[in-house]
Amino acid sequence: MPKSATPIPVLTIDGPSGSGKGTISRLVADRLGWHLLDSGALYRAVGYAAGMSGVDLTDEAAVTRSAEATRIVFRDPGDGGETRVVVNGHDATDELRTETAGAAASAIAAFPGVRAALFDKQRGFRKGPGLVADGRDMGTVIFPDAPFKVFLTASADERARRRYKQLKDKGLNVTLSALLREIQARDERDAARVVAPLRPADDALTIDTTGIPVDGVVAAVLSVVRPA
Ligand code: DC
Repeated sequence: MPKSATPIPVLTIDGPSGSGKGTISRLVADRLGWHLLDSGALYRAVGYAAGMSGVDLTDEAAVTRSAEATRIVFRDPGDGGETRVVVNGHDATDELRTETAGAAASAIAAFPGVRAALFDKQRGFRKGPGLVADGRDMGTVIFPDAPFKVFLTASADERARRRYKQLKDKGLNVTLSALLREIQARDERDAARVVAPLRPADDALTIDTTGIPVDGVVAAVLSVVRPA
């Protein structure tokens, strides 16, 4: 790219699980006509692939080797339906959304080798006209030069309630109290890890979405990219 060219814009949307990042990122990307990176799906895919090949998820070296070898493809079904995630040739979309896959992702995401294995892949999603990047370290590590950064939060109770509704709607069998415990454990693990811990970038706008309807959050995030 010539030095004078304007860099491709990136909007980073980071935050803890259940903060609404997934839904908001998708809607905002649609409204802007930008690409979308669901980085959580990459960590879920790595945890899933390692588990499927019998790798001990606490064995950092083995999980890192598995991460380096895992082929992950996002496939747009073309009918406006949900993006499919194909892991080593297998459509693993349904398996990846379970809480078990989320917990495995959170565990293996603490390994520096795993994060390094996914670094270039994530940066490769930066394509014109722009990218909405959803994750935990999009604004701090992967796209520190992004011109637009937000950090979404919500109370743990509200996040557990949202997750409960989402999973129930998908027909999964979960309880609210177990989800709240799981969310709190995951937050602690994601925030306490040494590499790329969950925290807002210094230049991110933090938006507390507790009690705010989806439309309101979308409008608040869009106003970062397109000030009124
Ligand atoms: O957003 P999600 O629930 O799909 O993410 C699953 C786990 O992956 C999350 O608990 C931590 C990890 N993750 C990460 O460490 N860095 C990211 N950029 C995205 C997800």
